[in-house]
Amino acid sequence: MKLKDKVAVVTGAASGMGKAIAELYAKEGAKIIVADLNLDGANSVVEGITSNGASAKAVQVNVAKKEDIDNMIDTAVNEYGTIDILVNNAGIMDGFEPVGEISDDRWDQIFDINTKSVMRAMRKAIPIFLEKEQGVIINTASTGGLNGAHAGATYGASKHAVIGLTKNTGFMYAQKGIRCNAIAPGAVETNISSSMTNISKFGAERTKVVQGVIPGVGQPEDIADVALFLASDDSRFVNGTVVTADGGWTAAF
Ligand SMILES: NC(=O)c1ccc[n+]([C@@H]2O[C@H](COP(=O)([O-])OP(=O)(O)OC[C@H]3O[C@@H](n4cnc5c(N)ncnc54)[C@H](O)[C@@H]3O)[C@@H](O)[C@H]2O)c1
Repeated sequence: MKLKDKVAVVTGAASGMGKAIAELYAKEGAKIIVADLNLDGANSVVEGITSNGASAKAVQVNVAKKEDIDNMIDTAVNEYGTIDILVNNAGIMDGFEPVGEISDDRWDQIFDINTKSVMRAMRKAIPIFLEKEQGVIINTASTGGLNGAHAGATYGASKHAVIGLTKNTGFMYAQKGIRCNAIAPGAVETNISSSMTNISKFGAERTKVVQGVIPGVGQPEDIADVALFLASDDSRFVNGTVVTADGGWTAAF
């Protein structure tokens, strides 16, 4: 087992990639905090994990709220004594809006959920990692965090910022036993489209050109395997970087 007795916090773990990551980490011996806004969904992921003999606990978290993030990390410490692995995975899409159509409210909401939450969770976990001189952070970015138009301007900017945060964090704590990497998934079959509202006709039409060269859609398990590599010692010399997992999509550009 690659994560025996490690304690992992996974956000957005009720669905899609977060669920697949939580389940795979549990199979590899980790104890999991299954964190999500959707408590029923988180509870059913916990049921699945515990019925296979592993340990997990659900925590309802709105990652846009500082007190929820703090409580999530505190719960890991109270339940399992520490945290070893932090996976900042919760996220939502925009409506493909180009900059001329962005509302301030939507911008703030997406940045709070996709970006500020990542900073806050890392900030809360870092003192624990520094004390142990050990810790691993994995942030789910997106190929939209590396390229211009995989979604709207807000989503792309929010994920570019996650990559910037990841690189800075990886470098800053590189000599403190802490690694921080991001995954940039391409198109993956999850429930993410349910977070898309008020789709911009113009923006959606423009991004179609880019989506036209997607070689294939991935499954959440394809991303969970990358997240396992990044959480385990197999990636001990991988730090402050982005692993793209997109089936070759962005190799086209
Ligand atoms: N699906 C894709 O094609 C794709 C591609 C690149 C990146 N991503 C990123 O992958 C991550 C996971 O998304 P997914 O595709 O598995 O989607 P998903 O919708 O299946 O899962 C996302 C989970 O996050 C939770 N969530 C949403 N807002 C939250 C909040 N405020 N607080 C706590 N939890 C919240 C949802 O309840 C859901 O369980 C996201 O960061 C997304 O941006 C997805």
